[in-house]
Amino acid sequence: WPVFSDDIDAILRLKRERNAVILAHNYQTPEIFHCVADIVGDSLALARKAMEVEADVIVLAGVHFMAETAKLLNPSKTVLIPDMGAGCSLADSITPEDIRLLRQRYPGVPVVTYVNTSAAVKAESDICCTSGNAKAVVESLGVPRVLMLPDEYLAQNIAAQTDVEIIAWKGHCEVHERFTPEDIREMRAAHPGVTVLAHPECPPEVVAEADFAGSTAAMSDYVGREKPARVVLVTECSMSDNVAVDHPDVEFIRPCNLCPHMKLITLGNIRSALERNQHAVTIDPAVAERARLAVERMLAV
Ligand code: 13P
Ligand code: SF4
Repeated sequence: WPVFSDDIDAILRLKRERNAVILAHNYQTPEIFHCVADIVGDSLALARKAMEVEADVIVLAGVHFMAETAKLLNPSKTVLIPDMGAGCSLADSITPEDIRLLRQRYPGVPVVTYVNTSAAVKAESDICCTSGNAKAVVESLGVPRVLMLPDEYLAQNIAAQTDVEIIAWKGHCEVHERFTPEDIREMRAAHPGVTVLAHPECPPEVVAEADFAGSTAAMSDYVGREKPARVVLVTECSMSDNVAVDHPDVEFIRPCNLCPHMKLITLGNIRSALERNQHAVTIDPAVAERARLAVERMLAV
């Protein structure tokens, strides 16, 4: 910790001086998550909380689509992302043009878009969803068939829980697609009695081997509620680090995959973001208006 203390002190001071708050995703490293963040959570919680922020500046310690969502929901605030390169393989997997073509191919079928997309893609969508509310969003539409984009595995995992027919796209999370059913079987053999929690961005064969699948917040809540003796969180590496702090009696088995995008955010660039007001997120107003509607419809479900 001493190695971080200069940056932590500076960030805490800069937050007061600039009337800023830091929203951090569950995949941020513990020194960000536990030492400087004001609000932490999954994508859904961060979106909801961003809307309520009264401070002048929001620093989004997460990836670009999360910062864009915060800007959509609270447009009068300055929203900073400490590294513009913090992207997402899912957001990169689909373009607005792809959605327009899909609408021609499936006329009248509503488009449900994962929040892990650009504002321009959200603007072409009817409604957004996150891993925390995807089933509820799909079922709220009251139709027999939806397009659910761009995460193929999330779409397949939700299809297994609902009677609504789901048409998927071919996007994948580069972190969760790497887990295999064999990984889970090996963990169970090596750690008898382990409870396996998986993110629904994992392939369906992986989710089938897990005891529970849910968003990052749902996994964290599960540990708090069920207090398993041993647990593995089949997801990004910082999740276990962050959750373990609050549960010293739970043994965390740690095989995990790093998200290179989330890991671009550091104490150093959070400090620079506040010192230099960089990098401010801007969204074309015409795009923002339509994208906001899709996110607001989601939040109303
Ligand atoms: P959550 O909404 O579950 O936090 O997931 C976001 C994400 O990027 C998972 O890879
Ligand atoms: Fe995107 Fe996957 Fe990283 Fe989440 S973990 S930000 S879905 S690449």
